[in-house]
Amino acid sequence: MKTTTHRYVVGDSFKSWSMDDETVDLVVTSPPYPMIEMWDDIWSPESTTITRLIEKNQGKEAYEQMHQILDQAWTEAFRVLKPGGYVCINIGDATRSLDGRFQIYPNHSRIIQACQKIGFDFLPSIIWRKPTNAPNKYMGSGMLPAGAYVTLEHEHILIMRKGEKRAFAKAEKENRSESALFWEERNSWYSDLWTGILGTQQKLNISSLRKRSAAYPIELPYRLMMMYSVAGDVVVDPFGGIGTTSLAAMVTGRNSISVDVDEKLVDSSIKVPTKRDSKDKLNMLITNRLKDHMTYVNTKDMLFFRYRNQPLGIPVKTMQEKHLSLYPIKSLSRSEEVVTAKYRKLKTTEVKDCLKS
Ligand SMILES: C[S@@+](CC[C@H](N)C(=O)[O-])C[C@H]1O[C@@H](n2cnc3c(N)ncnc32)[C@H](O)[C@@H]1O
Repeated sequence: MKTTTHRYVVGDSFKSWSMDDETVDLVVTSPPYPMIEMWDDIWSPESTTITRLIEKNQGKEAYEQMHQILDQAWTEAFRVLKPGGYVCINIGDATRSLDGRFQIYPNHSRIIQACQKIGFDFLPSIIWRKPTNAPNKYMGSGMLPAGAYVTLEHEHILIMRKGEKRAFAKAEKENRSESALFWEERNSWYSDLWTGILGTQQKLNISSLRKRSAAYPIELPYRLMMMYSVAGDVVVDPFGGIGTTSLAAMVTGRNSISVDVDEKLVDSSIKVPTKRDSKDKLNMLITNRLKDHMTYVNTKDMLFFRYRNQPLGIPVKTMQEKHLSLYPIKSLSRSEEVVTAKYRKLKTTEVKDCLKS
């Protein structure tokens, strides 16, 4: 039976990481965003430099100092990644007025520059469009030119690789084929613009923690894992928050390590997978995959699908999808700081019931 493990660690990812060199296949993360006020205190708890710079309205200098701290995480990501491994970074730019002077701090471009210097190859990346209806989305002088600013309704998902494309040994080919995407998933996910994934407004119900978790929606790490790793790989999130990346790893059959500096957040996130309804909620993402595919099949002429997927007995467009397999979670158990997920392979005979569920 397939098994994955998910480790939850309290740690400071601005310092050296606990993982050995070249032991990780994928890093998926969303760090604290420099120049976003809610994160001002976390950059240098022991030093007052950044606080002082902000107080003196020296925004560009504070922004650079924050990134120098964050750069250490990208250096560690490069070290722990195997050759051919990817780092996927969800980051938003920050708008801020200091001393009445409004500007945008382009976090995404500063991270690209740092990662290129470290040695990563920057690859075609994704704009995550997250529209908002908030009344304050229009910034500046309203209807009067020329002091209004365009809305900021997107974030970036930066994709970078350590070295050349990953090579798969013969023995890994079956697993890679089972990890394939459906044709229509490929068409929609490998696009530079992701729409329709709403941001999360997760409130934390733990009074001693900050008010908002700043979590991203599970669809983000879920897609990124399906696109940039295969089942059984090791995925690390150095800024794990409430553990969304690990939940996505459970669904996709990857192993994970989730690190966060906030002990209480780590304590509460490790309890989530073994909550009563968690397994069913996670499995819904797997069955929805099947449902969405069959909905797509029904929109097309049958001649469009030239192949039959063997494990599930359903029509597929390409030969690469022939062995694509779905592994619902059978059980989730916890022992101290590790969650173990066990899986079973979905069979042709179960597809009908699955589509009805
Ligand atoms: C944008 S949030 C990530 C949220 C996460 N993607 C999720 O879905 O819950 C950034 C996280 O980084 C954590 N963090 C801040 N400084 C850190 C550090 N030095 N080392 C590790 N984690 C840190 C914060 O506690 C916060 O949970």
